[in-house]
Amino acid sequence: MNRKKPDLIIIGGAGYIGTVVSDFFLSKNYFVKSIDNLIYNQKKPERKKNLDFYKLDISKIEKLNKIISKNAIVVLLAGLVGDPITKKYSKISKKINETYITRVINICLKKKVNHLIFVSTCSNYGITKNNRMVNEKSKLNPLSLYAKSKIRIEKYLKKKSRNHKIKITILRFATAFGLSKRMRFDLTVNQFVREIFLKNRLEVYDTGTWRPYCHVKDFAGAIYRAISVKQRSLFNIYNVGSNKNNFTKERIIQKIQRYIKSDNISFVNKNTDFRNYKVDFSKMKKELGFVPKYSVEYGIKEIIRSMKKNFFLNLKKSKDKFGNYTIKKTS
Ligand SMILES: NC(=O)c1ccc[n+]([C@@H]2O[C@H](COP(=O)([O-])OP(=O)(O)OC[C@H]3O[C@@H](n4cnc5c(N)ncnc54)[C@H](O)[C@@H]3O)[C@@H](O)[C@H]2O)c1
Repeated sequence: MNRKKPDLIIIGGAGYIGTVVSDFFLSKNYFVKSIDNLIYNQKKPERKKNLDFYKLDISKIEKLNKIISKNAIVVLLAGLVGDPITKKYSKISKKINETYITRVINICLKKKVNHLIFVSTCSNYGITKNNRMVNEKSKLNPLSLYAKSKIRIEKYLKKKSRNHKIKITILRFATAFGLSKRMRFDLTVNQFVREIFLKNRLEVYDTGTWRPYCHVKDFAGAIYRAISVKQRSLFNIYNVGSNKNNFTKERIIQKIQRYIKSDNISFVNKNTDFRNYKVDFSKMKKELGFVPKYSVEYGIKEIIRSMKKNFFLNLKKSKDKFGNYTIKKTS
């Protein structure tokens, strides 16, 4: 371990993306402080030498104040994630995703942390006309409470960046796929692979709508680039993903069927989710040299392999364990 490097504080570190990001930075010899209230009753991360895990709700400001140190790099991932869960728990969602996140940001500003990374979403683009590619300058069109909260925080950060001379980077992530120790099978690619593998009945809605996808490991790589490469200014926004990984749901199903077949899939001509956006990821490539390594095929194959090896115990029965379905009571 090299304590000369700033500590990396991952808030939401026991989540689907957080566990992968945490392992990535431990492998790069960072000292990682991971904070998470385990809202889905998920397991604590395994004990590791350079990892301090704090089971903590981000509403506990005094405790956070002690953990967040000047000069740390803070990666803000925590929150209720996704349209369905934020719709189901709308009041709690607004509290966590707006009120508490704002308080965490205020601590980071007060402490003058080395770099604050706020993880946002490409869902902010919502819907675009004529399949036009959208970039960081495009108009945002949030269709869900989830995206609306993200945009409120983005605006708050932009406003604060004018008076605080600290590095602030907003990363708008594409939809994630791939393996994580805290697996989510409620995300499109992962969910489709699971259902087809188990030969469950799969109804696919909104088949022709476009969405960008990105492997969880690539998100870790993107955060690493964002903190390692000198950025042009103190405040920046980047889309994170690959132009090559913009797909319709129909294309994803075709890709999965190259490896596993099922006769139990039906395409339903009904719109349930109006999001439809193709995203341009060239800014991060041009300015920070970041290009994702992993294709959707890679993710499909690794999930199939892990299911063949029974990596996910009780996958058939305990669907709720593997995704953002039900939260435990919070304070
Ligand atoms: N998964 C995706 O496809 C995707 C896409 C774009 C952006 N993102 C963003 O990436 C981040 C992580 O997403 P994820 O897929 O890992 O979701 P996740 O639900 O697996 O992770 C979120 C984590 O936050 C924790 N958390 C929730 N409320 C908390 C609280 N009050 N105090 C402390 N911890 C709390 C949860 O326990 C969970 O571990 C989120 O900010 C999300 O908006 C995700």
